[in-house]
Amino acid sequence: MNFSKEYIKIVKPILEHPEFIKRKEYKHHERESVYEHSLIVSYNSYKIAKMLGLDYKSAAIGGLLHDFYRYPWQLTDQQRKELQIPPSKKGFFNQHGFTHARDAMLNAREKFPELMNKKIENIILRHMFPLTPIPPKYREGWIVTYVDKYKSMNVLKSPKELPKYIGVKRKNKKRK
Ligand SMILES: [Fe+2]
Ligand SMILES: [Fe+2]
Repeated sequence: MNFSKEYIKIVKPILEHPEFIKRKEYKHHERESVYEHSLIVSYNSYKIAKMLGLDYKSAAIGGLLHDFYRYPWQLTDQQRKELQIPPSKKGFFNQHGFTHARDAMLNAREKFPELMNKKIENIILRHMFPLTPIPPKYREGWIVTYVDKYKSMNVLKSPKELPKYIGVKRKNKKRK
């Protein structure tokens, strides 16, 4: 993908940050890293926002950080223990699909305080709508939410993939 100079200028501090670079190792889907996915969502959101005369800067940053949650969600409890990461909370609504948006927003606030504004925080926090019930507050948030769904759907091969897409772990089948 050829990124415009203007876009690169906006997102450079994020792309160069070691914490963001780590996302090259986080899997979003089988063949795509969180890094690649976030970049695609960000650039497309930026272009749409610009075309519509909206706040393309917030769309670019919000898009890039929308999945900036702290730890790869696919880790098992054992792997988390080995990496000295706190165990994941139990319960259906504590699963990745429902919680990572808030985690990403808090992490973004912590790592990039100088880039945040209310709109960007809301873009990140609400991007999982309608899986999470509160919709984005700003039009730029709707763009990111839509682009994220659209780009994620591209890798949906069958209904079996749905739990992975929405970030819910499947229970192991009970042994008889
Ligand atoms: Fe997400
Ligand atoms: Fe995403």
